[in-house]
Amino acid sequence: MLSFQSQLSLLPYNTFHVDVQAKYFVEITSKEELLELFSSDLFQKEKKLILGGGANILLTQDIDGLVIKVGIKGIQKLNPTDINIAVPLAEKDVLIRVWAGEVRTDFVQYANTQGRAGIENLIAIPGQVGTAPVSNIGAYGMEAGHRVARVEGYDLTTLQPKIFSKEACAFTYRNSIFKTQLRNQFLITHVIWKLEHFDEQYAFTTQYPDIQEALKADVSPLSLLRMSTIIAEIRAKKLPDWHSIGTAGSFFANPSISIQHFETLKKQYPSLPSYPFSEQLVKIPAAWLIQQAGLKGYSNGKAGTSPQHALVVINDGGTAQDILEVVGHIQQTVNEQFGVVLEPEVVYV
Ligand code: EPU
Repeated sequence: MLSFQSQLSLLPYNTFHVDVQAKYFVEITSKEELLELFSSDLFQKEKKLILGGGANILLTQDIDGLVIKVGIKGIQKLNPTDINIAVPLAEKDVLIRVWAGEVRTDFVQYANTQGRAGIENLIAIPGQVGTAPVSNIGAYGMEAGHRVARVEGYDLTTLQPKIFSKEACAFTYRNSIFKTQLRNQFLITHVIWKLEHFDEQYAFTTQYPDIQEALKADVSPLSLLRMSTIIAEIRAKKLPDWHSIGTAGSFFANPSISIQHFETLKKQYPSLPSYPFSEQLVKIPAAWLIQQAGLKGYSNGKAGTSPQHALVVINDGGTAQDILEVVGHIQQTVNEQFGVVLEPEVVYV
């Protein structure tokens, strides 16, 4: 049975710990409740905001409408014949359907214990499974989009079920069709993942220097569980814990700049790191730019950047305006010093 709340503080529902009010709020915990919601008056009348784990959003104002928190949980291994569109499968591939409300880390742990490989480096990223495809979450050489076979949900205009193949999701770096054209127009109910059965031939993704360091220190054979433990330890050292301080992880996307621009900067700053991106563009770490601009650990009293990681904006009891002031200051300073525009990766609501 659905339970609508009114004038509810969203502070517990966003990892930035911003205290704004929702005019109406409802949490969906079953498919029946979702269908009940679709026929409710509030759903028909109000503007809607879909909320997952609230781990990649900045709530800039009170929500004058209905906030729908998707909390339906469940994990189901599929047989290839269970789904009615063709997903190309190799012998080792395993399809797993996960409800949007599952906690991402719980799903990674499930995959690890079941011997399903391909998402072990995505451990300890706050948020729910349903929003993993939205911002195409990624870390340590893995990206959700590499392993998503399809996304299922409802078109919020027609209220008809709809399926997106991996290609239709239009995954790019930290982006997808759900974050752009379909923002707030599509409610994701399930993500179907194509993982692979783990065996000793499995190729772990280990190229990151921090992972290499950890592997040098302990040369025992790698397992999915051990790999996730290594990643979780790296993250715990590098990133502040959102339970104790407001944060949405990396605030900005890493920018891509022209090769010419990169070469000019590299002459001036020989230590500027870079990753190849395309024939014309080079990706550079936003964290490096922010640190070089002297803004690692910067604070305006209520919000700032983490002393642990320059790309992580933190909120220590401030408002969205305090956070936006910090963000504006970073963007302006980095642009003045390097001629690089930093774009938020976090979604503003
Ligand atoms: N660096 C600094 N100062 C810092 C931190 C980093 O100069 O305070 C430099 C270092 O040179 C380092 C480089 O920046 O080599 C990159 O840093 P890091 O390896 O921490 O990765 P990142 O590019 O800052 C990205 C993702 C993270 C993900 C890590 C690891 C984006 C926007 N962020 O961060 O994702 O965990 O790589 O794969 O792509 C997130 O999206 O919320 C997130 C945490």
